[in-house]
Amino acid sequence: MIYVALPKGRLGESVYALFERAGYDCPAIREKNRKLIFENERAGISFFWVKPSDVAIYVERGAADLGVAGKDILLEYTPDVYELLDLHLGKCRMCVAGPEDFRDDIARPLKVATKFPNIARRHYSAQSREIDVIHLNGSIELAPLLHLSDVIVDIVETGKTLLENHLTPLETIVPISARLIANRVSYKFKNAEITALSAALAEQTPEE
Ligand code: PRP
Repeated sequence: MIYVALPKGRLGESVYALFERAGYDCPAIREKNRKLIFENERAGISFFWVKPSDVAIYVERGAADLGVAGKDILLEYTPDVYELLDLHLGKCRMCVAGPEDFRDDIARPLKVATKFPNIARRHYSAQSREIDVIHLNGSIELAPLLHLSDVIVDIVETGKTLLENHLTPLETIVPISARLIANRVSYKFKNAEITALSAALAEQTPEE
């Protein structure tokens, strides 16, 4: 049996559809209920829904053999897992964004609000720019509007949230998409099954 942690929500739905097309279906998952674990013995697969930011924890600790996590989470938490495949789903980009009239004052540390403090620190340390990180958990776009921060480091998908709050992308840090990740021990001991599954998914993955 291969145990797979899927991210709950919209991304999870399209990720599951990919597994289904690859022949790893589990019809019970489509039933409307609050169950979290689904198994298809014939296909040798078991899925469970977890919070997207928790997928890597389940995989790193071996509670799941495989999982699907956003590149943002992998860059932020650097879990000790193998990244097997870019699924080309959930595409967006990690950006620095700020007010349209933003001008950097290098005489003082830049105040950066973000859910991704490690990504923000790495980005600015590569530019030798001193920053003051303000770690928030959501609605990041509010921070510059209320002068809590100068800029934000956040995910931009359509750009609508920025636009509607009179903010603009200033810099792209890195493109983001969903990745198939594997537990290191599982990869060794269930290698044949994992390799077959990864190859089947790769065939169904949308083009770049
Ligand atoms: C993400 C991100 C932006 C928004 C970007 O937020 O933090 O707020 O989506 O999408 P857009 O470019 O298509 O407008 P999410 O929905 O995850 O909520 P939260 O950050 O407020 O928790």
